Amino acid sequence: MLLLLLLSLGAAAGGSALRRRGEGLRALPPLPAALQDLDVSDNNITSLPPDALLAAPDLRELNLSLNPLQELSLSSRRLARLWAARCRLRLAPRLAAPALRYLSLADNELEELEDGALQLPALHTLILKRNRISYISDKAFAGTPALRVLRLEENQLSEAPAALQLLPSLEDLSLAHNRIWSLGPGALSAGGGAGGAGGAGAALVRLDLGGNPLSRLHPAALDHLPRLVSLVQMTATTDSNSE
Ligand SMILES: *[C@@H]1O[C@H](CO)[C@@H](O)[C@H](O)[C@H]1NC(C)=O
Ligand SMILES: *[C@@H]1O[C@H](CO)[C@@H](O)[C@H](O)[C@H]1NC(C)=O
Repeated sequence: MLLLLLLSLGAAAGGSALRRRGEGLRALPPLPAALQDLDVSDNNITSLPPDALLAAPDLRELNLSLNPLQELSLSSRRLARLWAARCRLRLAPRLAAPALRYLSLADNELEELEDGALQLPALHTLILKRNRISYISDKAFAGTPALRVLRLEENQLSEAPAALQLLPSLEDLSLAHNRIWSLGPGALSAGGGAGGAGGAGAALVRLDLGGNPLSRLHPAALDHLPRLVSLVQMTATTDSNSE
């Protein structure tokens, strides 16, 4: 009896989890009020009403990957991690999620990121790999100032986005396997080369530029990256080497 009581207290303290993968669901199942962890990946959910998570105010983790969503708007006060990979998303999701720290939008069909596309003040990690992104507007990251990890590999970018300059805490950046052929002076630091203090480069520890057709790398392109310890930069030659 005591053991049962302790067990149920434990469950309440730890919250509950619900996993309904691969069942052909077309909508969310009823959500218990104490739910903290929901996995409805690999179903047939094509849309969610914006208040879909209202019934589960303590939700921390949500896996929506592998649903044919195309569009997504959600609000959740406590949600910390959201996976929406392989959902055929064409537009950045509209998320009111002030506690969100991790967002995976890998393997979708995003083509561009507009100004302030994501308003997520706590976001730490943003995974955008394997989309079709060819355009990132200059203020696209204005709403994600806390970003530390940004993965943009396997997109269609032809330059390092100027919006990176809005990310003073960025530590880990992948631009691998895009179409970047040229990096000008200070391309990755604040103000396009004018100093670097407080810009994207200030905290950058890892930078992956591999698999780009980089043929022009200005000798000053990687200036003002004081903390950089890892650089992957295949196929690059610097201006000073050119014949
Ligand atoms: C998913 O839904 C579509 C129509 O909305 C239906 O044609 C299809 O058979 C469903 N697939 C599964 C696996 O339930
Ligand atoms: C989310 O769902 C996908 C598809 O079922 C799965 O591959 C992935 O591992 C899940 N992620 C987490 C963190 O559970």
